[in-house]
Amino acid sequence: MAFEAINLKEDIGTEIHAGVDALLRPEVAVELRTLLVRRGVLVFPELHLSDEQQVALAGMMGTVREEGEKGIYKIALDRKTNPQGNYLKGSFLWHMDGTHDSVPVFGSLLTGIRLSAVGGQTEFANSYAAYEALPAQTRARIADLRVVHSFRTSMRRAGVEPTAADQAHFDAIQDRTHKLVWTHASGRKSLVIGCHASHVEGMDRAESDALLDELLAWTTQPRFVYRHEWCVGDLLIWDNTGVLHRAEPYPMDSGREMHRTTLVGEEAFS
Ligand code: OGA
Ligand code: MN
Repeated sequence: MAFEAINLKEDIGTEIHAGVDALLRPEVAVELRTLLVRRGVLVFPELHLSDEQQVALAGMMGTVREEGEKGIYKIALDRKTNPQGNYLKGSFLWHMDGTHDSVPVFGSLLTGIRLSAVGGQTEFANSYAAYEALPAQTRARIADLRVVHSFRTSMRRAGVEPTAADQAHFDAIQDRTHKLVWTHASGRKSLVIGCHASHVEGMDRAESDALLDELLAWTTQPRFVYRHEWCVGDLLIWDNTGVLHRAEPYPMDSGREMHRTTLVGEEAFS
């Protein structure tokens, strides 16, 4: 083994201890990817990867999405660092990335560059484990349901008022309908829910709200959640297809800055 792996919770999270040189090898990256899908989140305490090393590791784990500068997208609410940062307030609510795409991103790597003095910790909830632990009756009830996901709904829930500059970007994002229960190619199933889940198709609104609230509360109960308290230089990697995540609210001017590299999705919702 090129690294030491310590499980953080029974159902989610593994901490990895290894030097940078040991990690930046193709065969090790493949092992990390397998572990990631099994555990939902990998945590590398104070690894201090450079931007180039982070993109290199990502490139060995999958296909790097072109975003930001050379595969590094700056997560920051401060407009000077990220002029499009307004919508990132949506990340304060439980969500998956890319539910407005037919093929959502597979996952992301996130390094803590500068932290907020208050808030700004990140939480992850394992939606594979949450699905698998549902009572059989609930699994039968939701088996064939479809859910409409709406960017506008998540922005409204997060209290984000689009600025004039945001409006065109917001309007371009179409609603999408996905099965509530995602059956992955591996045969495992996970829940596709979060702040972007507007309503269950064809269901009475009150019943739909109650069901989506119930499933979100179930999935985000402590047993399925890992909460990361950041140190500068930590690297987190999450499997976006099987975990929900959220950032604890932090002030717009906190200076918090994270460097994210995103892996292109390889499996459509189905
Ligand atoms: C993201 C995200 C959470 C955070 O990068 O998609 O939701 O803690 N980040 O910054
Ligand atoms: Mn996100």
